[in-house]
Amino acid sequence: MKLRPDQHAQFERDGYLFFPGLFSPAETQVLNDAVPELYSRREQYNVREKGKDAVRTNFAAHMYSEPFAKLARHPRMIEPVQDLLGEALYMHQFKINGKMAFEGDVWQWHQDYGTWLNDDMMPTERAMNVAIFLDDVTEHNGPLMFIPGSHKKGVVDARHDLTTTSYPLWTVDNDLIRQLVQRAGGPGGFDADGRHVPGGIVSPKGPAGSMILFHSCLVHASGSNLSPFNRVSVYLSLCAVSNHIRRHKRPEYIAHRDFTPIDCLPDDCLLKDYPVDLPWKDGVPATALQTSMQEIAPERKAA
Ligand code: SIN
Ligand code: MN
Repeated sequence: MKLRPDQHAQFERDGYLFFPGLFSPAETQVLNDAVPELYSRREQYNVREKGKDAVRTNFAAHMYSEPFAKLARHPRMIEPVQDLLGEALYMHQFKINGKMAFEGDVWQWHQDYGTWLNDDMMPTERAMNVAIFLDDVTEHNGPLMFIPGSHKKGVVDARHDLTTTSYPLWTVDNDLIRQLVQRAGGPGGFDADGRHVPGGIVSPKGPAGSMILFHSCLVHASGSNLSPFNRVSVYLSLCAVSNHIRRHKRPEYIAHRDFTPIDCLPDDCLLKDYPVDLPWKDGVPATALQTSMQEIAPERKAA
């Protein structure tokens, strides 16, 4: 799936692209059906909400679940990012975020590249997120919030928040968020006919199967989910191969260490049989849990 010139321009300006209903209900269902069993596993790769049993994030399902291994090689997800970055990609991170009914907690304001730089020593921002909704996303179940154009600020100040939620994140403080939102259009409001006029925060909403692609420096967040409806979404964090991480401070199920370029499967891969490798099918290897503050030796950098 190649992007049109106007989509390139829109991405440049706003830092994200939204594709409502890009995947069919049949394709989304194949993925959705696999989630409850994955979430039921008592494994380190399932991070639960603070003080709760609900899963906040499942990591690395593409290493042990067939439908997600196919999604990780899906041309509709990989090719637009390849097009934008102009280079082969590897999978830096793969997660299925729950944001479960009544239980899903907030994601504080942050840039993903802030965490990838500070924790993983990813050299530059040549990496991107591409997300697919497995449930309908509405204003009620904690949609993502973006500050359009905020990616143009590059890496902004962040602090390591280890306490707000169950998952450590490099987050942006409220004063800077206020400034960025003001610069992006302020509070928005309503016109004389009562129609909503968007301001400096946008929330792409749409049916299950919708896809969002966003820049690694785009500032984003999401509120809690107090509704009775799950908001499960899958995020592929794709990194240009030449920009691979230089440190293994986090376990491999969170920040991957295999920099092999992704080879796409055919477009119908979710609905047909195609062989995929599942290297962690029988468990996560002990080496993947080892971490280090050492910068990766220069000879590995050339790989
Ligand atoms: C994220 O920013 O990584 C996740 C946000 C969300 O799922 O709401
Ligand atoms: Mn994020």
